[in-house]
Order: sequence, then structure tokens, then C-alpha cells
Amino acid sequence: MKYKDLTIEQLKQKLDYNKIPKHIAIIMDGNGRWANKRLLPRNFGHKEGMERVVEIVEVSSTLGVKYLSLYAFSTENWKRPIDEIQGLMKILVQYIRRELERLYKNNIRIQALGDIERLPDFAKEEVIRAIKTTSENTGMTLNIGLNYGGRGEIVTGIKKLYNDISAGNINIDDIDEKVFSNYLYTKNQPDPDLLIRPSGELRLSNFMLYQIAYTEFWFSDTLWPDFNERELILSIIDFQNRNRRYGGV
Ligand code: IPE
Ligand code: IPE
Ligand code: MG
Repeated sequence: MKYKDLTIEQLKQKLDYNKIPKHIAIIMDGNGRWANKRLLPRNFGHKEGMERVVEIVEVSSTLGVKYLSLYAFSTENWKRPIDEIQGLMKILVQYIRRELERLYKNNIRIQALGDIERLPDFAKEEVIRAIKTTSENTGMTLNIGLNYGGRGEIVTGIKKLYNDISAGNINIDDIDEKVFSNYLYTKNQPDPDLLIRPSGELRLSNFMLYQIAYTEFWFSDTLWPDFNERELILSIIDFQNRNRRYGGV
């Protein structure tokens, strides 16, 4: 990689601050492998992963990103051992308790992507508190994917739309892609410009299937607990050098 010898400051000079992606989505993956490599239990990886959330939220908001979507827990992650799930929920609660005041002060608005009703009560209550506390904030929107699945999101959206049609709130001829997108968890938000997946996996794992039609992808081998400011900036520089054609010429 030609940027590997550059310092953070030099990298930042390569950024075009007028072309910062408006919406960045990240599949935070590799916590388990990070812990395994150190012969630690998987939840140590998740804890370290949380520290990267703190860092990446701060950096993104400072760079001027308007929407940051972090995939934290998928609808498929319920298949994991109960201890790991409990650990992840505790880390989520710890994150909110520790960081909410700072997030609020930094004008960050928290939203959940996913059906949070299925979360254990102690976690659900904290998430709702975070959403309510920050609902009037006007800076970066932080979307946290919690019990999120892209296919489930579309099916849930179709059910809501069906209810609106039945109630006579909307006419079937008025439904288009834009209208439908407002039945998703990302209602009123722009689609991601950049999707980042660290940890070496080259798949979407059911993340934002509707929204990523024209998103630019960026993959790296770094495990999420090692993903830092430098890596985020590298991904944005790469994004800024791409030619987005949207099917045109
Ligand atoms: C991502 O790390 C965190 C969640 C999916 C909750 P993983 O736990 O998937 O880590 P690996 O993929 O096993 O290394
Ligand atoms: C995707 O990671 C989900 C989150 C990051 C929350 P997984 O580790 O669950 O995905 P797979 O199983 O490797 O596809
Ligand atoms: Mg994984």
C-alpha cells in the first residue's frame, strides 16, 4: 500500500474535506479472532471492539460524516452461545452508560437499526434512553445495528406498507423506491456511500441489502479491535479516488 509510510497528519492532507462520504456503514467483524490470537475469551475481543467504536465515532464526527451505521448484532447472531450474547449485551449497556454524555455533548443522534424489542430488557431500556436523550441532536447520526437483518428489514417494511395501504393512507400507484425506503429502519436517511468490512471476510452478512445498491465497498484484513483512525482515513482516501457512475458513463 503506497500510503503505508505516511503519518496520520500526512494522510489527512490527502483527504478532500469537501468529499467526505455522507454515510459510512461498517460491518464490525473479527473480534473473536482478535481474542483467539491472544488466547483470550471471545468477549475480550468484543470489549476491545467497543473501544474502537468510541474512537471511530469520534473521528467520523470530526471529519464531518453525517451518518455512521455500525453493525453490532445481527438477527443471525442469536445462534451464538448464550454467554457470548449476554457479554455482548452487557458491553452495549456499558458503552451507553459510559459514553452517552459525551455523545450528547458532541451533538450525536443515536438511532437503532433493527427490532430492539427482542433485546433483553436491561439492554433495550438503555438503548431507548440513548435514542431519547439524543433525539434532538443535529450533528452526526449514529445508527447502531441491533438485532438487525437486511432481509427481515425489507419484510417488516412490506408489512408496514401493507397496513398503510389497508388503512387507505397510501395508494398503491404512489409507491416507488423512494417511498418504500421510508419503510426501512433508515427512514429519511441517505444510502451509505461507503461500506467497510474489516477482518478479511468478503460478504455482507445480511447488512443493509436495500440501501447498498450503489455503495462503494472497502474490505481489509484488519480485525475490528485493530481498526483505527488511520485505517478509516485510508478507506476514505480510496473512496475519494473512485469514479461513481450509477450506471451512467
Ligand atoms: C464481530 O466479531 C462482532 C459481532 C458479530 C457481534 P465476531 O464475534 O464475529 O468475530 P469473529 O468473526 O468470530 O472473529
Ligand atoms: C456480521 O458478522 C454481523 C456483525 C458484525 C454484527 P458475523 O461474524 O456475524 O458474520 P458471518 O457469520 O461471518 O457472516
Ligand atoms: Mg464474525
